[in-house]
Amino acid sequence: MRVARLESETDFEGWRGHARALLCEGVPPEDVTWQVGAAQDTLFDILDAPAPPRDLAYRPKVSKQFLADARLALCHRDEGRFGLLYRLIHRMQDTPDLLSNAVDDDVIRLGALVKSVSRDRHKMRAFVRFRAVKGEPDTFVSWFEPEHRIVEENAPFFLRRFANMTWSILTPERSAHYDRKELRFGPGARQADAPDGDALEDLWRTYYGAIFNPARLKVKAMGAEMPKKYWKNLPEAELIAPLIASARKLEAGMVEAAPTPPKRLAEYAFAEPDLPPGDALAALRRDAAGCALCDHACHATQTVFGEGPLDAPLMIVGEQPGDREDIAGRPFIGPAGDLFDAVLAETGLSRDALYITNAVKHFRFTPKGKKRIHQSPKIGHIDHCRWWLKAERKLVKPKVTLAMGATAIRSLAGRAIPVSEARETGFDCFDGRAGLATIHPAAILRQSDPVEAAAMREALIADLRRAKDISA
Ligand code: URA
Repeated sequence: MRVARLESETDFEGWRGHARALLCEGVPPEDVTWQVGAAQDTLFDILDAPAPPRDLAYRPKVSKQFLADARLALCHRDEGRFGLLYRLIHRMQDTPDLLSNAVDDDVIRLGALVKSVSRDRHKMRAFVRFRAVKGEPDTFVSWFEPEHRIVEENAPFFLRRFANMTWSILTPERSAHYDRKELRFGPGARQADAPDGDALEDLWRTYYGAIFNPARLKVKAMGAEMPKKYWKNLPEAELIAPLIASARKLEAGMVEAAPTPPKRLAEYAFAEPDLPPGDALAALRRDAAGCALCDHACHATQTVFGEGPLDAPLMIVGEQPGDREDIAGRPFIGPAGDLFDAVLAETGLSRDALYITNAVKHFRFTPKGKKRIHQSPKIGHIDHCRWWLKAERKLVKPKVTLAMGATAIRSLAGRAIPVSEARETGFDCFDGRAGLATIHPAAILRQSDPVEAAAMREALIADLRRAKDISA
């Protein structure tokens, strides 16, 4: 009997070296015992480091597919996996197409191991939730409990996906750490070593709530896709029970609601909106929540509609919601909104007296690691979204509108006018109402020259004062 010793439970290279040496010597599978870790007392021959094949020209017959499957199968917790793999490779020397025999017991067992590990690997990719480490920027930790020993096998995926942040994935048996330079592995950890919830959890919950469609509820399929054992580490899992409970009611409401006749995109985007009866703002807000007039709607968390009193004499129009607005569902509540509030306070204007909205109602971004980087809307997005702005303006009928930045000017004027020119001359909005223009607060935040930034801030204040006076 030969004892082949491996460094660890997932020591694929060790297994491969032993298998090659054993095949070269013609050792049958039933004569090999596989052992992991330190040597135990034994009467048998121990193969520590795999002996080099005696016949250096010897090349076992093995397909790439088998090696890929074997690498995955080794991550399984099945104790007999090393022996199974050696038996398969041993048999393949006489039966090279063994793997295509779908009724062979060893082949079936290999398939089951590979399937189970692949599924676990996929679930880890889908359900790892990073949490920010307080006081350490761009540093994240996640806790995950995999079924199999997949941390090393799966780590390169997370490395590619989250290359620009520092992260650790902790699991009970193994942990992976990446510091933007090097990927390292360490021993297992405890759940208490990972931080508790943070703002990212709100994002997950908002996202999950927004994509939930009661008419498509299939509880069994949901259970298969998101098995219960993963729920305890998923921030969005707490929404599942209430969403399922409310689904029937929501679905009945959807069935009862009058069907919306389909409209051709161009007709819809350029037609005059009719104001819905009753609480028109609430109805518009609800309809806009389901808007898919342009491709960019499908990436945002939600539609961010305008807000403010319907008799506001002054309407403020920005470009599009940013990252924070996308999560909260309200315009101008992120960094640009903070600056906007600060300058408003200096002009004596009250936010409560203004109708504040955006030319485009969805956040457009490109993902970069965990960040969502703002992208300007395209002309098509501005044109399609103008329908909602038209409806808002029919409702509010503002005496004056202040467009902040080039996108707002383009939407309101229906053509591009440089911000500097529009600030000087003003412009007519598409509905004939008076339009004024100013600098977008985000442009001030992006300005790296403090002197220039201060001058831009003063200009914004002056433009707001002018809009206040004219609209009074
Ligand atoms: N920038 C905008 O133009 N609008 C917002 O709502 C936020 C940032």
